[in-house]
Amino acid sequence: MDQRPRRNRVGPAVRGLVRETSISAAHLVLPMFVHESAQPKPIASMPGHARLGIDGLVEKAREAYELGVAGVALFPALEGKFKDPRGKESTNPEGLLQRSVRALKKAMPELVVITDVALDPYSSDGHDGVVIDGRIDNDVTLPILAAMAVAQAAAGADVVAPSDMMDGRVLAIRRALDEAGHTNVGICSYSVKYASAFYGPFRDALDSAPKAGDKKTYQMDPGNVRESLREIQLDEEEGADWLMVKPGLPYLDVMRFVREHSKLPIATYHVSGEYAMLKAAAEKGWLDYDRCLLESLTCLRRAGADIIFTYGAIDAARLLRG
Ligand code: PBG
Repeated sequence: MDQRPRRNRVGPAVRGLVRETSISAAHLVLPMFVHESAQPKPIASMPGHARLGIDGLVEKAREAYELGVAGVALFPALEGKFKDPRGKESTNPEGLLQRSVRALKKAMPELVVITDVALDPYSSDGHDGVVIDGRIDNDVTLPILAAMAVAQAAAGADVVAPSDMMDGRVLAIRRALDEAGHTNVGICSYSVKYASAFYGPFRDALDSAPKAGDKKTYQMDPGNVRESLREIQLDEEEGADWLMVKPGLPYLDVMRFVREHSKLPIATYHVSGEYAMLKAAAEKGWLDYDRCLLESLTCLRRAGADIIFTYGAIDAARLLRG
């Protein structure tokens, strides 16, 4: 035999030399949930994660930061009294999210703080946009999203991340940020976000499931891939800095497709349901969580992701440190 591919697999050092994909904490973002109470509230469907008070949030973010995790993505869990149809609380400079951002940036100026732009945590309807007569109104929602992004930037967010899937929101946000002087605040657009059942545990965490209907009139149909081209082209034209494909593992073909059609950095979100599957199987003794986590993240990178949002960021960073 002239050809023996196994020669490149003989030992760990050789395998390391020929490995095509690397993974490090520098590519990871830890999503976190914050609530008003100082008492952590564990999220049953996401073992290891809890809604944290601001002090607890800073402490856990510091743990991630010290392990080399590049950033955090913040999601506020609000009490019902702060929710209304237009998500008014989202622009309050003293709101929970804005205070959380200030606390994190004060404690760790170098940590990349990413904030979510969408109405759902603030909406009494549990939708990402304003509901009018049972429909999600795109154009009424845009100025609200823009004002939310400006409030987050004013609090110190480095990157705002519209996850709402309204048409035209990247442009509306870019213009509003620039007008307010936040020209260096980036936009991570959830460009290719599917209407996925894998978000279930996240909606438990925020108590943000839609009160009526579903998100299929704005999030993409899982059967589509060509359509992602249209979404990413619009977001590029509108000024997005990063594009996201979400969820992660079930959509690797989409990630590869997007990678091949854009020069922008691509993020992906290894979502709550993906994390929950690993944790649940590991609890039953059916899977090795640590190895499956690192393998999942490697596969997301191999498919084209530069940036990975994952609930396993701290675990992965610790494993990678050895
Ligand atoms: C909502 C939002 C969702 C996630 C991030 N932002 C859920 C949804 O669209 O219903 C999901 C993240 C996850 O499942 O981990 N704007």
